[in-house]
This record gives sequence, structure tokens and C-alpha cells, in this order.
Amino acid sequence: MIKKAILPVAGIGTRFLPATKVVPKELLPIVDKPVIQYLVEEAVSSGIEEIIFVISKDKELIRDYFSPNPELEETLRIKGKSDALQKVAELHKMAKFSYVYQNEPLGDGDAILKAKELIGNEPFMVLFGDDIIKGDVPASKQLIQNYTGGVIIAVEEVDKKYAPLYGIIDPGVQNGNLFEVKTLVEKPSPEEAPSNLGIIGKFICPPEIFEAIENSPSGKDGELRLVDGILSLSQSQKIWALKMEGQRFDTGKPDGLVSANNAYLNA
Ligand code: UTP
Repeated sequence: MIKKAILPVAGIGTRFLPATKVVPKELLPIVDKPVIQYLVEEAVSSGIEEIIFVISKDKELIRDYFSPNPELEETLRIKGKSDALQKVAELHKMAKFSYVYQNEPLGDGDAILKAKELIGNEPFMVLFGDDIIKGDVPASKQLIQNYTGGVIIAVEEVDKKYAPLYGIIDPGVQNGNLFEVKTLVEKPSPEEAPSNLGIIGKFICPPEIFEAIENSPSGKDGELRLVDGILSLSQSQKIWALKMEGQRFDTGKPDGLVSANNAYLNA
């Protein structure tokens, strides 16, 4: 069973500046809850019991958000605001929350390595801070239900003109929404894209991924990436991709967050 999830949220959120100069993008709201709460709810409703946040000193507010706030709770109690009190008081009980630090933004792979000691010898979920999927079955649950070992990657169909914004999989045998992955191509041109299946920031990885990330070369920007670790691991383990059911929003950029707000507000 998959019981732990790493949420690397130490990135600097350049696509959302200046809003993210002081407020982490993960705390920007979709209606009345921050993006990160949707991700925690997704994980918890899929059976995840421990959430390991990888944060930086600029992201301490995320830790505050999932910690008790006795003063606020007392004020709400005195004012008789029981609905508000319940919403606030339940946050830190949603899961076991752990925090590790990435002091420099050296890539999502480097961030994941910081959580290695807390994972142990079991497969685990990785959820990037941006990708929200609105649908009947929580996205993490879809992945867990289809996981048989190796790596499973969430993908969505994308118009090939947007292929340069994605990692694109080269699919092998298909069984319903599940695809064998032959290889991955990072940000290909539309002509070079091997399919229209783009990678979304949700994965289940085996513990061997840590060594694979450690041994993968850093990219030209000096960053270590999870996808490079997955590529190395593909030599010894199976890689799968699951086309997600539901509507996906990239909340790490303004139009994606606005679309998510419209969708959830009108739901
Ligand atoms: P993104 O590619 O979205 O990067 O990272 P970012 O810095 O958050 O945002 P932009 O692209 O500059 O606008 C994917 C996930 O990996 C985390 C991010 O927080 C996000 O959840 N990440 C990225 C880290 O934790 N550390 C890093 O060094 C880079």
C-alpha cells in the first residue's frame, strides 16, 4: 500500500511573480482553500497517511497553515463561529505532516532527495504543488489503483503545439488508460513529440528512485529532475503512464488558477 507522499514545494514560482514574492503559490486560493489543501485532501482521500513537505525558509507559511493556531481557535470559539472553527481546527489533523528543507532551488529531483530518510523501503507518491485534477475519483487514488510496481506517471492529452511545455511520453502497449512507457522526451518540438501524452506532476515511485536521481546528470540549468531519475530507472524497472480522468488545472500560472477558481466556484 502507498501510505506516504512527498510534496516538493520549495520552488520559487517564477511564473506567478510578483504574487509569489512573499506568498507561496501553493497558498493562493481556489475559492476559499489554498491550492495545497486540495492536494492534501486528494492524498488523504486516496489512503495517504503521511505527507512530507519539502519546503524552504521562504515557504514556512505552508508549515504554519497545517499547524494548530490556538489563538485563532480560541477567538472563533469565543465569538461562537463554530463553522469557521471547525474548518481551521481540522487542518492539522488531516494527516501526519513532516517537513524537510531544500535550502537552494536545485530542482524537483533534488527536493525529493531531501525526503529520502523519511521514506524507507517502500513505494511512495510524489505530488507537485501545481497540478489539481477535478474529477470523481481523486487523482492519487487513480494512480494507486493502477500501480503494480516500478514507476507510474500521471499524463493528460495535450495539443501537440503545447508539447514544448511538457515532458512527453513515448507509449508502448496500451490497456485502457494505462500505457507502457518506452521513453520520455523533455519539452520536444511539436514535430518531435512521440505522442500527445504530457506528464502531470503526480507519480508513484519505488525507493530505488533516490539512487537513480542521485546518479542522473543535472540538466543544463544545474537542476536535478525527477524525470531524469525515472529515465535512468527505466533501464531496470517498468515505467507506466496513466491517463487521468478529470479536468486538470496548472495552478502554477495565472490562467490555470483562474480557470480552477471558475470550475470550483461553479461546481
Ligand atoms: P515547477 O517546475 O513548477 O517550478 O516545480 P517552480 O519553481 O515551483 O515554479 P516556476 O516554474 O518557477 O513558476 C515543480 C514542483 O517542484 C517543486 C515546486 O515547488 C513544484 O511543486 N520544486 C521545484 C522544488 O521543491 N524545488 C526546486 O528546486 C524546484
